[in-house]
Amino acid sequence: AFIVTDNCIRCKYTDCVEVCPVDCFYEGPNFLAINPDECIDCALCEPECPANAIFSEDELPEEQEVFVELNKDLAMIWPNITEKKDALSDATEWDGVEDKLEHLER
Ligand code: SF4
Ligand code: F3S
Repeated sequence: AFIVTDNCIRCKYTDCVEVCPVDCFYEGPNFLAINPDECIDCALCEPECPANAIFSEDELPEEQEVFVELNKDLAMIWPNITEKKDALSDATEWDGVEDKLEHLER
């Protein structure tokens, strides 16, 4: 599956959801999660993310491993999102800030 990682937190640009052919993105307050059981590994979402926050599980940087379980768990409890919406208002300030996990809202 593809995995949404740290740099999505507090940005949430949502460009990714528009291209997903199986609508497997789920939305929290400041992060999106991919349901790994629904993702068909088409790779369409990866280049769409302005924050470069989406990786194939096969190419996941080691320090982002925690996001494998997080995507799976959060996709189970958050609502589905299929249409792009405005990014969070301070997305550009948070884009590229490292280790935003402490800011993840559930
Ligand atoms: Fe959706 Fe394809 Fe991205 Fe998986 S890889 S989340 S199926 S767009
Ligand atoms: Fe997040 Fe990138 Fe999608 S910032 S909402 S993974 S476009």
